[in-house]
Amino acid sequence: MAETSVAPGLEGIAATCSSISEIDGQAGRLSYRGYPIDELVEHSSFEEVALLLLDGELPSAEVLERFDRGLRSHRQVKYNVREIMKFMPVTGHPMDMLHCAVASLGMFYPQQELSDSERENVSHLDAMAMRIIARIPTIVAMWEQMRYGNDPLPPRADLNHAANFLYMLTGSEPDPLHARILDACLILHAEHTINASTFSVLVTASTLTNPYHVIAGAIGTLAGPLHGGANQKVIEMLESIGRVEKVASFLDERLARKEKIWGFGHRVYKTRDPRAVLLMGMMQRLAEAGNLRHSQLFDVALELERQASERLGPKGIHANVDFYSGILYHEMGIRSDLFTPIFAMARSAGWLAHWREQLADNRIFRPTQVYTGAGPRHYPRGPSRG
Ligand code: ACO
Repeated sequence: MAETSVAPGLEGIAATCSSISEIDGQAGRLSYRGYPIDELVEHSSFEEVALLLLDGELPSAEVLERFDRGLRSHRQVKYNVREIMKFMPVTGHPMDMLHCAVASLGMFYPQQELSDSERENVSHLDAMAMRIIARIPTIVAMWEQMRYGNDPLPPRADLNHAANFLYMLTGSEPDPLHARILDACLILHAEHTINASTFSVLVTASTLTNPYHVIAGAIGTLAGPLHGGANQKVIEMLESIGRVEKVASFLDERLARKEKIWGFGHRVYKTRDPRAVLLMGMMQRLAEAGNLRHSQLFDVALELERQASERLGPKGIHANVDFYSGILYHEMGIRSDLFTPIFAMARSAGWLAHWREQLADNRIFRPTQVYTGAGPRHYPRGPSRG
């Protein structure tokens, strides 16, 4: 039999072809459909980027307006979804809640499997994608209200995606700078080639199951601390350090124990993650606007990045997207366990673009394995097992 080799973590293995996004890990560049991420952050909106990812081209003003109207009109979730959420423990993690609530949407908008004609109908798939993108922020914001004993606020159709989320989350008129920064963060987190959660999208989509299962699976994958869950870990780490003077001893101890620094390292980037650079710029904008709540934590983050880069940079380990996103949301007054759900809100656009791309040329994922278990043996009969 031919020998099969295994690549742990599938490093360097191309599992699919994709035209959605591209990373240059040596130069620290990221583009969506060929457009550099910094230009999209500067000039576009999350709504437009979501369409770009789904359809492959920047939309005309009319198409964008129709998509935006669709998003605004599908924000509401069915009352029974809220009833399900009521029975979830308020102490549970919001990612666990989001995973369950998104999976439950499939029961209220049933579509157990996609027929051939539905798979080929691009506008049908776009409409399904748009409804999921519209509803995830509502679920996250509803949970934030419900877990503190408040009634969820109805979405507001006069606000864009980012501003409406902030409104539903806090109940107050969103600060325009916060809304703009959140919009930019959503753009930055919307897509990132075939990372762990996107790979889970491809595998789940390849069975032709409904998109709610696809997105729920991706949410579960994103939740882990080695992936999207790292943004919450970063803020907990910064809080545990507390003061700039303690950064050096923290690093000494942690690296001596061979423990990782949260928000550092990446399989593809061997330089600073371009999203971390842009997020740091946003932190500076918040600081200049006098809008920082706990600037001491930002100072700790800057010092930690400086010292950790000195020690880990020569190994190609630098700050990643999760390093500054957590502290940015923290400074905007958002609770730390909501950082990863906000990541999921944004990434739903990229996940659904990959779902569509997978369906366009589908073959079920069924890799192979190298068996390392026991050889053939017989089930023991009688008292011989003790
Ligand atoms: N701190 C210290 N050392 C690190 C770090 C880190 N954050 N990341 C990697 N290393 C070291 C490892 O200890 C290992 O060293 P060794 O060769 O001496 O044993 C080497 O770099 C390779 O590390 P791996 O874990 O094998 O790299 P991999 O590509 O498998 O993992 C990952 C990438 C998961 C991102 C890793 O860097 C990590 O765990 N980082 C911390 C968690 C994190 O921030 N995750 C978010 C990533 S971005 C995202 O998913 C949105």
